[in-house]
Amino acid sequence: MQWSKIGLGAGQLGSDSLPDEQAAQLVLGAIDAGITLFDTARGYGRSEARLGQIVKGRRAQIALVTKVGYGVAGVADWTYDAVAQGVDEALRTLGTDYLDAALLHSCSEEILARHDCTQALLDAKAAGKLRCIGYSGENAALKRALHTACFDVLECSVSLCDQRVLHEVLPQARERGVHVIAKRALANAPWRFARCPTGDYVEEYWWRWTTMKLQDLFGDLPPAVAALRFAAFAPGVSSVLVGTTRLDHLLLARDALSQGPLPSWQVEAVRARFVACDPGWWVGQI
Ligand SMILES: NC(=O)c1ccc[n+]([C@@H]2O[C@H](COP(=O)([O-])OP(=O)(O)OC[C@H]3O[C@@H](n4cnc5c(N)ncnc54)[C@H](OP(=O)(O)O)[C@@H]3O)[C@@H](O)[C@H]2O)c1
Repeated sequence: MQWSKIGLGAGQLGSDSLPDEQAAQLVLGAIDAGITLFDTARGYGRSEARLGQIVKGRRAQIALVTKVGYGVAGVADWTYDAVAQGVDEALRTLGTDYLDAALLHSCSEEILARHDCTQALLDAKAAGKLRCIGYSGENAALKRALHTACFDVLECSVSLCDQRVLHEVLPQARERGVHVIAKRALANAPWRFARCPTGDYVEEYWWRWTTMKLQDLFGDLPPAVAALRFAAFAPGVSSVLVGTTRLDHLLLARDALSQGPLPSWQVEAVRARFVACDPGWWVGQI
């Protein structure tokens, strides 16, 4: 299965506040629109179960990526068994006999160094349960994962507001033939909020967005379109995720990518603005 350039980040699919009917319309509408990549995790509430239910009969048309390492009853988190059984449970929940990828879900550098969790992924891949294996996370642990020769896929934040990976990770991943899935590619759409929201995932990006005043560089281009074209065509990025509850937002994202990369002067200006404004702690956000 070819992974589409745009994928549905199925985090929001796990929420009880999303009605079943809207969840089904979102996923089936995405497949009908040619979106084949679906990114979930055992930690995303009802997401895996819902996805499994909705894609019954369409499995061959899509790529399923999930994340493991924790939350298996009676098993210590971040052990060989937690990963191995997490994969087996994901297969059952998603109603499939293979996953396109399973990723270690943001474990620390120390856990990666122990290698038992990675070995569990390798064994599941050798058993035909996984097509690809990888790591999802940021900063030092992401860099360690990059140098763990056995990973096929890395998932990390890449956006207007999260740019360090552009030079610290993506070139090396590209050189090694490692696929990179860009998460939070919209930077959680901080432009929606006139004031910094509280208790929302977007706060740190809101501050960065407000500090950089990037809208000046985009003119009439809607920020969501600029953000997606920036992240999706960053050299080394294979696919971008959009986390949404709305099919119209997903289709807007697909259409944005059909416009191709931003002009190179704009890309350079956005990158220069990030470097100029980074106070030294604008590191990757999980
Ligand atoms: N591995 C990890 O630790 C990890 C961490 C974070 C995320 N992820 C993955 O990455 C995916 C995406 O991350 P994310 O959802 O946090 O960030 P995101 O995709 O950057 O932003 C999602 C937010 O943007 C809004 N949005 C989407 N399209 C929009 C548009 N055209 N205009 C305005 N707002 C729009 C969505 O609201 P609406 O529902 O209204 O569209 C949602 O609130 C997740 O679903 C998950 O699969 C993984």
